[in-house]
Amino acid sequence: MKKSPVTLVLLLLLSITANPQDPAGPPPPGRPQAQGKTDILIHTGTKSTDLIYRVSSRDNRLYQVYLGPKLSDAGPLSGPGTDAHPAYATFGTDNLFEPAIRATHNDGNPSLELQYAGSEEVKVTPDITLTSITLKDPQYPFSVILKTRTYSGEDVIEQWAEISHQEKKPVTIFDYASSMLNFDASKYWLTQFHGDWAEEMKMQESELTAGIKILDSKLGTRAHMYQTPVFMLSLNEKSTETEGEVLAGTLGWSGNFRFLFEIDEKGSLRVISGINPFASEYSLEPGRIFTTPPMIFTFSSAGKGQASRNLHSWAEKYGILDGTGPRYTLLNNWEATGFNFDEKKLSGILEETRKLGLDLFLLDDGWFANKYPRNNDRAGLGDWQENKAKLPDGIAFLVKEADRNGAKFGIWIEPEMVNPKSELYEAHPDWVLKLPNRPENYYRNQLVLDLTNPKVQDFVYNVVDGILTSNPGLAFFKWDCNRMMTNTYSPYLKDKQSHVYIDYVNGLYSVLDRIRQKYPHLPIMLCSGGGGRTDYGALRYFTEFWPSDNTDPVERIYIQWGYSYFFPSVTVCNHVTSWGRQSLKFRVDVAMMGKLGFDIKTDEMSEGELKFCQAAIADYKRLSDVIWKGGLYRLISPYEENRAALMYVDEAKSKALLFSYTINSRFGETFGKVRLQGLDPSRTYKIHEINIFNEGRRGMMFPRMSENGKSYSGDYLMKEGINAGSASPLTSAVYELTAE
Ligand code: GLA
Repeated sequence: MKKSPVTLVLLLLLSITANPQDPAGPPPPGRPQAQGKTDILIHTGTKSTDLIYRVSSRDNRLYQVYLGPKLSDAGPLSGPGTDAHPAYATFGTDNLFEPAIRATHNDGNPSLELQYAGSEEVKVTPDITLTSITLKDPQYPFSVILKTRTYSGEDVIEQWAEISHQEKKPVTIFDYASSMLNFDASKYWLTQFHGDWAEEMKMQESELTAGIKILDSKLGTRAHMYQTPVFMLSLNEKSTETEGEVLAGTLGWSGNFRFLFEIDEKGSLRVISGINPFASEYSLEPGRIFTTPPMIFTFSSAGKGQASRNLHSWAEKYGILDGTGPRYTLLNNWEATGFNFDEKKLSGILEETRKLGLDLFLLDDGWFANKYPRNNDRAGLGDWQENKAKLPDGIAFLVKEADRNGAKFGIWIEPEMVNPKSELYEAHPDWVLKLPNRPENYYRNQLVLDLTNPKVQDFVYNVVDGILTSNPGLAFFKWDCNRMMTNTYSPYLKDKQSHVYIDYVNGLYSVLDRIRQKYPHLPIMLCSGGGGRTDYGALRYFTEFWPSDNTDPVERIYIQWGYSYFFPSVTVCNHVTSWGRQSLKFRVDVAMMGKLGFDIKTDEMSEGELKFCQAAIADYKRLSDVIWKGGLYRLISPYEENRAALMYVDEAKSKALLFSYTINSRFGETFGKVRLQGLDPSRTYKIHEINIFNEGRRGMMFPRMSENGKSYSGDYLMKEGINAGSASPLTSAVYELTAE
């Protein structure tokens, strides 16, 4: 965020000379007591949350004294006796627990002492405030600026650190957290989201016990696969969707991340979040600033639902490229054709795109490479020229053909990777991450390009720019990244191999910065062998992401449920495919609760199925603003019952959409009514069921639900509820609620 002298109001500028020889001697670890001189309180926060720091007059260190619901009087926090924890704990002096930062100075001294040296608060916009607290080592010209950016209206806070020094030689930093947050509760409940390819975002909640729990990833090219860079932390008791104190956090970084939770001997919890320091000590040159990625978090006193809505509204305004839309509905060909297509087949699919009423056709993998044609995943990756046998008239022809059909055209790319069987690899074997004296280690028959190398960054930029320049009108990319790093060694970094994980991600960001300078609004879907890259570091550059290759709608209910805690539905691409044996209606109803797309053999559809899809797509377009921008309320969790229900409500509370899915039902099982949320109690809502499908294959019938056409007050809907679904397994219903 650039400071402009016109818009910035300097509210506070405090500067205190650090006292290197504190007469009181080193303070005891833990809780300081202010003696004599007055402590300084530094107040940050949002409309409902306070995050308060105190500078102790005794040792001049910075302590966190409060994080929680807004206080009307923070006065007592300035005095002794309150819980105070190091705001950004160092290593090497008296800290006995995990540090936020560890450094070895240029003379070999492995200790770091950070003392308060000033703070500044800047009102960036009426909504955003940036607080910078400078901490300095009294013995060395080494400093950390702890940055806190608060988004008042959204109740979201971002924290990061800027680390720099003016020592004579480089300083090695071993730990460099983005934030360290402290809590004092009787119990702590951690919800994590882990998984694997095709089983992303599995939710698990457990009580934290004394000692350390770490959620992290070491995959290099992508944050997520086995663990997602997100968590929820409930204080005292497990929080529900509507009750309890909960912190939801996520790191804006697309590489190795680490969240570390440590409960000390007194039951206090410190949460240290940032880039994973594993195998990544960083040699920092004098005068260079090491900026950590932002830790993004929100505190809710009203359960997980509110925490998610806070993150969603922040993401839409600030966290995602063009977060408020619009987005294209699309037809993709990956599931329908795989690598097996040609110009004629694609022209046919383009007609189907228009027939269905979709906005865009997305041509997936397999359209490129000639010497080693991309007819499977064993060859061609890296050679980004149209394959002449499949596409004799090139992409440009297809863009025109799409235009003729009233549709847009987009293509799949995977520009960070290479097959050894490619012209790129033959020409530049030194552009690849691989150990010089060990066999190459493949994953999906490919290797990772060395994005720490500026020449490789230029290559990746030119792939994207070249395609866009030679194909004016191309309207969309799907940017894939199908492997993690293994046998990692950068020929470019030479003796700085421990920089590779960090410099790779920064190299990627610098390519994306260049792309966004030239193409600020081109929609790009982020994909990573399913949902391997779902983080707010990347989403600054991307409009949406592919959450999983698993499109079986039952699995998808759980996967999409998991993502919904942190990412708004406008980012989550859901495609109707042939995975799973459920009805087309069930598949469409599940895909509709995010950003809708199709990837099925449309020419095999019956007349009834086609009509159903056309009507569903038309309704989706009519209502997509409610789904993308409305507040999300998770009503019945599939983790707790054999069914799931959720709803979106627009800001004016005049339109809502309710999705209900019956996943399974035991013999004789009955389901209770679903109580709605987020409506205006004083208004009356008319219920209209959409996605009606009564012409399915094999005589499959889905009668309208009993609530169709009825009207109820918001008060009744929220207190008593409605019968939202049927008891039959694998049935679903979508309701449009309109305030009368
Ligand atoms: C990855 C993606 C798929 C598809 C293939 C193409 O697996 O997740 O959606 O694009 O690559 O090779």
